[in-house]
Amino acid sequence: MSWELVLWLLALCAPLLLLVQLLRFLRADGDLALLWAEWQGRRPEWELTDMVVWVTGASSGIGEELAFQLSKLGVSLVLSARRVPELERVKRRCLENGNLKEKDILVLPLDLTDRSSHEAATKTVLQEFGRIDILVNNGGRTQRSLCVDTSMDVYKELIELNYLGTISLTKCVLPHMIERKQGKIVTVNSFMGILSAPLSTGYSASKHALQGFFNGLRTELDNTCPGIIVSNICPGPVQSDIVKNALTEDVTKSSPGSYGDQSYKMATSRCVRLMLITMANDLKEVWIAHQPFLLMPYLWQYMPTWAWWITSKLGKKRIENFQSGMDADSFYFKTWKAKHD
Ligand SMILES: NC(=O)c1ccc[n+]([C@@H]2O[C@H](COP(=O)([O-])OP(=O)(O)OC[C@H]3O[C@@H](n4cnc5c(N)ncnc54)[C@H](OP(=O)(O)O)[C@@H]3O)[C@@H](O)[C@H]2O)c1
Repeated sequence: MSWELVLWLLALCAPLLLLVQLLRFLRADGDLALLWAEWQGRRPEWELTDMVVWVTGASSGIGEELAFQLSKLGVSLVLSARRVPELERVKRRCLENGNLKEKDILVLPLDLTDRSSHEAATKTVLQEFGRIDILVNNGGRTQRSLCVDTSMDVYKELIELNYLGTISLTKCVLPHMIERKQGKIVTVNSFMGILSAPLSTGYSASKHALQGFFNGLRTELDNTCPGIIVSNICPGPVQSDIVKNALTEDVTKSSPGSYGDQSYKMATSRCVRLMLITMANDLKEVWIAHQPFLLMPYLWQYMPTWAWWITSKLGKKRIENFQSGMDADSFYFKTWKAKHD
């Protein structure tokens, strides 16, 4: 075959490949590397069995579903959060539907903001199971309030919980992983760690901080202890209690009131399945959301000028919804669902 023919064939294939990628993207509910790993990569059922996994924020939402799906893989589980009755409920759910026995699940109450307790908690896990293979930093809270109305205590709480609490626990577990020269540190970040939106200034700042911290930690470990994998998981909107539990303008006010119909968000089970794929394939950073939400981190990363323009337009509506007492995001979900029904 002549070189000219090869070049012609390549020139013809390039637009076809581009079209295939575009079609894949339009149907995607995760970034394309993640979906490739789901299709061709290692299965969680092969990779994660027999591991000791510590999940924070395991009392509801994403953490609860993660515990549930992990229990089916035959791992040993440590379930942490503040509400012990809820953790016990999650434990019962895992025992009823999973492959685990009572001795395989440890309920370990933990307040991420109480950093002085993290060392003792880590020791308890090591005494119980002898090792920690995976730490899932999942516990956290979001925010629904305009910056101008928000007290400094709220900003402090978001940083204490989402950022410093997560770092503190990671630092307690890290020496143990370094000693074993292996382990996975998986952090549930957010699209808000890549982009920003109105009503979530403090939340977004805490998630950006996490992104910076774990990207830096990964580069340190790459050179000193490459067996430790650092994964940042960035979901878009997912069904959970996150809006109900959001911080508002005042740290003593526990909920933004109306949090509307959350059923338009990605199913928790799908988000968690993609998280397991991430862990099984040691992916460094993943983005998880339905379209059109998935488009946003791509725009922020690759086309920031467009991203600013769109975020400003959508942000206006978000603030209007919030100020009229509706859930800030229900507008997008309803519009999207109406178009696809
Ligand atoms: N759902 C989404 O749309 C979405 C999108 C992107 C990222 N995320 C991230 O996903 C993670 C899980 O959130 P979720 O959506 O599952 O919300 P959720 O249902 O409200 O769960 C939050 C979890 O964090 C725990 N938590 C809160 N404060 C804590 C503290 N001081 N110490 C220890 N644990 C604490 C809660 O348990 P207790 O109250 O019992 O302590 C609960 O188990 C968060 O990091 C969130 O930022 C969620």
